[in-house]
Amino acid sequence: MRSFSTVLVICFFSSLPISSTALGLNCTTTATCSALIDYVSHTNTTLGKIANLFGVSYISLFGANSFSFPLSTSSIQTVEVNQTIKIPFQCNCGGGIGISNQVPVYTVKKGVYLIYIANKYSNLVTYQDIATVNDIANANLIYPDQKLWIPLPCNCDRVEGDQVVHYGHLVSKVSSVVQIAKKYGTTPGTLTKLNGMANSTGLQAGQLIDVPLSGYIVSHPKGLNHQQIGLNALPCNVKVVYYLEIPSFLAPPVPMLDTPIEPY
Ligand SMILES: *[C@@H]1O[C@H](CO)[C@@H](O)[C@H](O)[C@H]1NC(C)=O
Ligand SMILES: *[C@@H]1O[C@H](CO)[C@@H](O)[C@H](O)[C@H]1NC(C)=O
Ligand SMILES: *[C@@H]1O[C@H](CO)[C@@H](O)[C@H](O)[C@H]1NC(C)=O
Ligand SMILES: *[C@@H]1O[C@H](CO)[C@@H](O)[C@H](O)[C@H]1NC(C)=O
Repeated sequence: MRSFSTVLVICFFSSLPISSTALGLNCTTTATCSALIDYVSHTNTTLGKIANLFGVSYISLFGANSFSFPLSTSSIQTVEVNQTIKIPFQCNCGGGIGISNQVPVYTVKKGVYLIYIANKYSNLVTYQDIATVNDIANANLIYPDQKLWIPLPCNCDRVEGDQVVHYGHLVSKVSSVVQIAKKYGTTPGTLTKLNGMANSTGLQAGQLIDVPLSGYIVSHPKGLNHQQIGLNALPCNVKVVYYLEIPSFLAPPVPMLDTPIEPY
């Protein structure tokens, strides 16, 4: 792991080599912000294990996925193969790229290769990305207990002038740009522009696309405050609203939710 100051140096002085390996997402601001990214496990696992893998609290992980699980859910809740889980994390933009801010950290186990580690993180990063940010010259030379920063792609830029939460969405087999735009309250034009796509066709399953959310998913067990579920880290003018990923008539009954969180 590099120290924070060294990372800033990478961001500002080596944008050429970094952008040529497509590390992270393009971003123009210099900022840190909250972001979300999809994770798809290749094995049956639990919410608690995913929280550990990404170094986030179980409760903030639950908060970001609360429409997928009942309120009684605990950290031993099974997450099945191919189920998509949204991961909340801190993003750092600088030098033209956005990557997770020194998190998550993976501790190398005996006999494990970088390519296995990239795969463990749903291939949201390549093994070259991991090597780059951790200053690993020879990707075959990693050692047990070595701590590796996994640079998840992200963005902090405003979109169409609005402050948003960027959500790295893994495209599923059946979705189109039009459907994704509709589901997440944006427009096909915004999505194609933000993602550098020539047109709104040609999406591929498994492709990561940057979806700007102007409302953040909020739902959490009673008695917890914004800080406990990580919402206090949102940009102050992002509206915190009930962001329904499913039609409102299918949404969980209101008693399942705590009192609505006021926009702040
Ligand atoms: C995962 O869980 C499902 C249902 O709980 C089960 O049918 C399946 O066999 C499990 N798969 C593995 C690889 O354990
Ligand atoms: C999970 O998804 C992969 C890729 O789409 C597919 O090959 C595999 O069969 C799926 N596994 C299960 C258990 O659905
Ligand atoms: C990111 O920047 C590179 C280099 O400027 C450019 O080639 C690429 O199209 C950009 N990607 C997006 C998604 O805008
Ligand atoms: C849309 O863009 C994709 C590449 O992103 C290209 O393969 C396809 O031909 C384009 N379709 C049209 C109708 O321009």
